[in-house]
Amino acid sequence: ARLVVLVSGSGTNLQALLDAIDAEGPEAYGARIVAVGADRHGIEGLERAERAGIPTFVCRVRDHATRDEWDEALTEATAAYEPDLVISAGFMKIVGKEFLARFGGRVVNTHPALLPSFPGTHGVRDALAYGAKVTGCTVHFVDDGVDTGPIIAQGAVEVLDEDDADGGAALHERIKEVERRLLVDVVGRIARDGYRIEGRKVRLRDG
Ligand code: GRF
Repeated sequence: ARLVVLVSGSGTNLQALLDAIDAEGPEAYGARIVAVGADRHGIEGLERAERAGIPTFVCRVRDHATRDEWDEALTEATAAYEPDLVISAGFMKIVGKEFLARFGGRVVNTHPALLPSFPGTHGVRDALAYGAKVTGCTVHFVDDGVDTGPIIAQGAVEVLDEDDADGGAALHERIKEVERRLLVDVVGRIARDGYRIEGRKVRLRDG
């Protein structure tokens, strides 16, 4: 499968995919990353792609007169690489109707909370503030809502008393450790074995 990965920050999820594909080989893993897109310049996620010799593109909202024009530009830039799957790995923008019309049902997102709890931009902080004892991460298909698409896999992470001391930074790092493994496992299985969606239920086929 051809993957386009969208990032907005450090790109450690992207790096986990790069490392898995490098270790197993694209054929055995079932996928390769054909491009990395971002909504901003100067982020480590783009440097990781460049180091791996993977083409990159940047679509900034501020470079477009309207959000819809940005969405169209992002769609065209992504479509140029003819992806089978788009992986939103720490991409901090909500893709629009043009993007979903083109890639709907083939966009996978990872979120650092156990959806439907704590959707949105501050999932880690919100779980901590709420006093949750267990949080985690969710890998899901993107639909036209925010973090509302069918869930593919989840991983639980315990919240510790000391997590209150640093506003969730340590907790987010523990979540990201689980998230990276979950994303690599899910993307490989989807790419190799396929899946089907029945209503809200995602059924991955065992290899
Ligand atoms: C991930 O935890 C993702 O779920 C969240 O932001 C983080 C991105 O991390 N949206 P990275 O850019 O993959 O290191």
